Amino acid sequence: MKLLVTGGAGFIGSNFIRYWLEKYPSDQIITLDSLTYAGHLSSLSDIEKNPNYAFVKGDITDPVIVDELVSQVDTIVHFAAESHVDRSVKDPLVFVKTNIIGTQTLLEAAKKHGNKRFHHISTDEVFGALTLGTDAKFDENTPYDPRSPYSASKAGSDHLVRAYFHTFGLPITITNCSNNFGPYQDTEKFIPRMITNLLQGEKVKIYGDGLYVRDWLYVLDHCSAIDAVLKKGKIGDTYTVGGLTKDYSNLDITMMILKMMGKDESSIEYVTDRPGHDRRYAVNWSKINKELDWSPSADFDFRLQETITWYNSNQSWWKDMKITSENFYKNK
Ligand code: NAD
Ligand code: DAU
Repeated sequence: MKLLVTGGAGFIGSNFIRYWLEKYPSDQIITLDSLTYAGHLSSLSDIEKNPNYAFVKGDITDPVIVDELVSQVDTIVHFAAESHVDRSVKDPLVFVKTNIIGTQTLLEAAKKHGNKRFHHISTDEVFGALTLGTDAKFDENTPYDPRSPYSASKAGSDHLVRAYFHTFGLPITITNCSNNFGPYQDTEKFIPRMITNLLQGEKVKIYGDGLYVRDWLYVLDHCSAIDAVLKKGKIGDTYTVGGLTKDYSNLDITMMILKMMGKDESSIEYVTDRPGHDRRYAVNWSKINKELDWSPSADFDFRLQETITWYNSNQSWWKDMKITSENFYKNK
């Protein structure tokens, strides 16, 4: 296969490229990434000399570069996005540009060049928020109800992807997954922010009452889910992907990390809540489990410990980005 991976210098994209080239060494990957604040070439430094890999710096909203690259591949795996909810509260416009216009630019090129295979990476946040203390979960039939500029822009991109399937017969699939964690995640996000704060002797910052619930998915399990959908998924279908079978609140996760890092509750600081903060996400991943035989590869606690060890051993990877992410939080 010859793949165009958009957003390959980001968290999930870089993990996906590494996963794919290890598993399918004769496949070829071109990544298109504009290297925003969230794009880090250092996440791909072990791959840059691989003869089956090429990096192109460019924007997914640029039809010229997108057209040229799409013409060279058979499959598009689309990760590139503005991905941080807090940033979407401060500056929604770039989310509309990248997540909606950028996706449409890619879809148009895929259509023009003979309906290329298109896999779109989306989020469980498009489904809105669930009530705390219930067993309700998102699945492929949950109605869309996005509540932040980020999730609204991702919902818009999902609708466009489906429109190109129904209107033009573009061979698409979509995955809507939960919160990823693992190596190479930007220090702006919850788990790496907590770990790196503690490694620097700072407190962790808990929004509001800390009773918010997310479904946590280890990033390489997400990569294997995309692999399953690319190889065996039904064209036109959506698959919801998650990791947990029971709820953990942000505070529960904080307590686990504090324990694993030999700290206690005195390292917690409660801070002002996020506006419009979604209370609870939970994902029913039985469709991808039953139809494509996918499931997470290990327990959450095991992957969390591995992630802490990774951030401890790779401080040079995150030291500079930590300054950028904490500056964002100071000025938001
Ligand atoms: P990220 O923010 O770490 O990386 C995004 C990458 O896209 C960066 O390398 C950035 O430079 C690039 N990019 C941004 N705008 C671009 C543009 N206009 N043109 C070209 N490149 C551009 O994001 P991530 O966490 O790796 O998320 C990847 C995808 O997965 C996104 O579509 C996101 O919505 C989705 N997703 C993420 C999570 C999660 O927990 N991280 C969960 C569900 C879905
Ligand atoms: O659900 C999937 C989504 O998960 C993805 O689509 C997004 O791209 C990804 O960023 C993530 O969104 P969240 O808003 O859930 O992730 P974040 O890491 O920003 O926050 C996770 C939870 O932790 C949320 O309830 C807010 C809270 N939080 C976050 C930070 C950064 C804190 O309490 N303190 C913090 O310092």
